[in-house]
Amino acid sequence: LVHLVTGGAGFIAVTLIKKLLEKGHTVLALDNLTRGNIAYIEPFLKNPSFTFAKVDCADLPTFRTGLLSALNGRRVSDLWHMAANSDIPAGGADANVDLRDTFMTSFNAVVLMNEQRIPTIHFASSSAVYGDFGRTEIAETSGPCTPISNYGAMKLASEAQISAAVELFAVRANIFRFPNVVGVPATHGVIFDLLNKLKKDPSILPVLGDGTQQKSYLHVSDLVDAMLFIAEHGQNKLNIFNIGATDVGATVRFIAETVKATASPTAHIQYGVGDKGWPGDVPRFRYSVKKLTDLGWSPRMNSEQALRLAIKEIAAQMGM
Ligand SMILES: NC(=O)c1ccc[n+]([C@@H]2O[C@H](COP(=O)([O-])OP(=O)(O)OC[C@H]3O[C@@H](n4cnc5c(N)ncnc54)[C@H](O)[C@@H]3O)[C@@H](O)[C@H]2O)c1
Repeated sequence: LVHLVTGGAGFIAVTLIKKLLEKGHTVLALDNLTRGNIAYIEPFLKNPSFTFAKVDCADLPTFRTGLLSALNGRRVSDLWHMAANSDIPAGGADANVDLRDTFMTSFNAVVLMNEQRIPTIHFASSSAVYGDFGRTEIAETSGPCTPISNYGAMKLASEAQISAAVELFAVRANIFRFPNVVGVPATHGVIFDLLNKLKKDPSILPVLGDGTQQKSYLHVSDLVDAMLFIAEHGQNKLNIFNIGATDVGATVRFIAETVKATASPTAHIQYGVGDKGWPGDVPRFRYSVKKLTDLGWSPRMNSEQALRLAIKEIAAQMGM
């Protein structure tokens, strides 16, 4: 039996695949390599329990053919659906980006679950499904969900498709609502962007927004632990969980200052105006992870600890 990971050459998938292989599972990773990188999964290619195929999951016939040929007669027990557009501003500029990579990949994954009798789906959803709740703490029961980005809208639509599948044919679904996830190998995100700017010009660090944006951050090692914990301990056919740190989050100012101290201590930080980094950015959210802590899981790092570690790791990844 095979664990199928879509978006398998992406940032979070790399840690997920590592842990699945360590647990003794056989893993098939599919990715169209638009944002992921084959170099990240290179070390796994030597492992006989791991296979990779370059496949566009947004196109059903391509996804089906790629999957069946890579499976070579084997069956899938678990589908970890990680493929999506991870560039939220790009999806804001062109709604087709999230229609294709965030929604159609999910829609097709669910169609293939039905067709190929895959019992279980684990879905990488996002806190972006909720929209902007200001300073109100967001629990899984908070609502209505009113996303303010095309990305969030297409994640919410994907969740709806999966919940219908659970009624119609799927045996089980775990929907993970991720916070901002940090760590390596970074492919995008605030730390990656800030370090890239310093690489181009070590004297100045322009920041999107005024630095007061405050969000919950989780290290990728904690995130993947939580996913595997829910997969093992979730008690329902459909399990929806916020995953995140237990603190109130960290500010963009904290991130900018830590990046500067790590990579270019003499740089001048130049803040922008307003509390949104870009249209569709949620300036602050407070995340309730009580449902998950009640199930018995807590993160090892809080938001600032996760950021400090990730900034060191990403700076090293970028040779800084
Ligand atoms: N990183 C975060 O902070 C965060 C937060 C919330 C949710 N998520 C979700 O977690 C998942 C993984 O995100 P990530 O941060 O590792 O991003 P990532 O961009 O590194 O990984 C996504 C992978 O999906 C692949 N992909 C995109 N469209 C595809 C397609 N049509 N066919 C096949 N592959 C395709 C990309 O090439 C990439 O390798 C995504 O679903 C993302 O929306 C991430």
